[in-house]
Amino acid sequence: MRAAFINSLGGPDVIETGELPVPAGGPGDVLVRVEAVAVDHVDRFVRSGAYATPTPFPFVIGRDAVGTVVRSGEACAHEFAPGDRVWTNSMGHHGRQGTFSEYVLVPADRLYPMPDGVDAVATAALLHTAATAYLGLFRHARVAFGETVVIEGGAGGVGSAAIQLAAAAGARVVATASAADAQWCRDLGADGVVDYRAGDLPARLDAALTDGADVWWDNSGRNDLDLAVPRLAHGGRVVLASGLGARPPLPVGGIYTRDAAITGFAISNASVDDLAAAAAVINRTLAAGRLRVREPRVLRLEQAAEAHRLMEDGVKERIVLVP
Ligand SMILES: NC(=O)c1ccc[n+]([C@@H]2O[C@H](COP(=O)([O-])OP(=O)(O)OC[C@H]3O[C@@H](n4cnc5c(N)ncnc54)[C@H](OP(=O)(O)O)[C@@H]3O)[C@@H](O)[C@H]2O)c1
Repeated sequence: MRAAFINSLGGPDVIETGELPVPAGGPGDVLVRVEAVAVDHVDRFVRSGAYATPTPFPFVIGRDAVGTVVRSGEACAHEFAPGDRVWTNSMGHHGRQGTFSEYVLVPADRLYPMPDGVDAVATAALLHTAATAYLGLFRHARVAFGETVVIEGGAGGVGSAAIQLAAAAGARVVATASAADAQWCRDLGADGVVDYRAGDLPARLDAALTDGADVWWDNSGRNDLDLAVPRLAHGGRVVLASGLGARPPLPVGGIYTRDAAITGFAISNASVDDLAAAAAVINRTLAAGRLRVREPRVLRLEQAAEAHRLMEDGVKERIVLVP
């Protein structure tokens, strides 16, 4: 099968494309013919070694896939039949081979059915970001109905999903985004959008946050706690999930005098139960047509290294590869 893989950790140039054997499965594995895979920031971190995880070489990169079941092991044949359309979003780390290949062997407990009638490319583009948004909002920050949630970087992949899921759960959402992305964020359900480039960000946030923020999640990787903490409501939670090298000052007094908490998480650590809970919400929301994603840029599998270069250069669009 054709695959994009690495034989050492490093920059995008370590990505090779070529032939690898189709993997043979065990009783709990499902062989999936891949239709579309997304390129996620975490793929870069795994490829470079910035996120330390076992990568047995040759290591197929990539985390998410949408595809069709080819065959199921005897222990999961009752769950997945040949021809079923399915998706996964937790391959390519902790020793599991990734998804940038014509076929991927997925443990049945990491595989979910695709809702009828949804597009493979658009779905691939949101699996990682929407699952991250779900886990951050509801598993880690425990967002409740009526709370106020600030999403910095609201127009990005995770931010766009977080706005939609938080709004659907009855939260009041204030997003930060470039002016050009303000309408996108409003269309997704943000009640307020603040232009982070406008220069007077603190004053604009104050105007949008009359009662403070119950949850504050910065997807830009800056994690400016001097901006976030003074604007937290009592019992507020700051979510840290981006900015591997960020070293922001920590306003200690502002945190403990509000009974506030800082919670960090990485989807890579999510249990299969948590991932399945996220998948159930994603599937319900997708089936209802209430999980939107911007049209991604589509490249071929052989362009995997180029896709990683584009990500490193800060391309705005999500990228999806097709075999
Ligand atoms: N911990 C986890 O489990 C996990 C999972 C997934 C992703 N992540 C991380 O989460 C981050 C976001 O991922 P993503 O896929 O959403 O990335 P993305 O699509 O590149 O989005 C990043 C967003 O941040 C915005 N931004 C840049 N500078 C900003 C600033 N100063 N203030 C406010 N917004 C700003 C960008 O807006 P412009 O377009 O205007 O520049 C963009 O919309 C990445 O660092 C990724 O590695 C973590």
